[in-house]
Amino acid sequence: PKKVRVHHLREMKERGEAWPMLTAYDMYTAQIFDEAGIPVLLVGDSAANSVYGYETSIPVTVEDLLPLVRAVTRSVSRSLVVADLPFGSYQLSPEQALETSVRFMKEGLAHAVKLEGGRKFAPHVEALTSAGIPVMGHIGFTPQSEHNLGGYRVQGRGEAGHELLADALALQEAGAFSVVMEMVPAEVAKQITHELTIPTVGIGAGPDCDAQVLVWQDMAGLRRGKAPRFVKRYADMAGVLSEAASTFAAEVRGGEFPAPEHAFH
Ligand code: KIV
Ligand code: NA
Repeated sequence: PKKVRVHHLREMKERGEAWPMLTAYDMYTAQIFDEAGIPVLLVGDSAANSVYGYETSIPVTVEDLLPLVRAVTRSVSRSLVVADLPFGSYQLSPEQALETSVRFMKEGLAHAVKLEGGRKFAPHVEALTSAGIPVMGHIGFTPQSEHNLGGYRVQGRGEAGHELLADALALQEAGAFSVVMEMVPAEVAKQITHELTIPTVGIGAGPDCDAQVLVWQDMAGLRRGKAPRFVKRYADMAGVLSEAASTFAAEVRGGEFPAPEHAFH
């Protein structure tokens, strides 16, 4: 199968074809999503929440994420794999962003990186793209800044919509190949998508973005409890796994497992 390249994503935008993106953090999910035709997989710093059990994405480190990135890149044949730069690994300077991204490319075998922030991070994005590293931006609600943004809140309402457009244009100008917009009013996301030549990827940003992304454990219902408004559950994996574990436990306790066909003689 043909590998997905960043220019294919731009061509899909030009043709008006919406494309899906999912997070992935390990081999089996990466293989399944690759085979399902998901063109872009993100090894998100959301691994902090959905793999490592932290409450925010702030504690997760480059050392935590690198092995997950390598597991995913080793497992795909077609999908473009984007490595998320964790909090504190790029904000200091364009040089720090380059140093960290080089690690994700060389040690993680990533195909691209993603970082959070608008205009202020244009020099960082430019340093990476100049070095040959494709960069995905991320604006609107940026979870690494949740303490500064006052928690999970929609960004870009009213006048702030113009700021968001300026951020998106600056990232495009700096060479980003795509930009994620998280928790942005649908009308603002639609306008930004129209103004940009690079594809926008929405999460809680309405139906008019060029692409849509979800965290896979949210999409597949592995995460329990109340999900954010922008999540749609396409399966009940928590229910399926819970049922399997309970049945296994009951059969061991009841002496039904293992049956004769599972034993060696
Ligand atoms: O870390 C992540 O999963 C993300 C996506 C939700 C865009 O940044
Ligand atoms: Na992220």
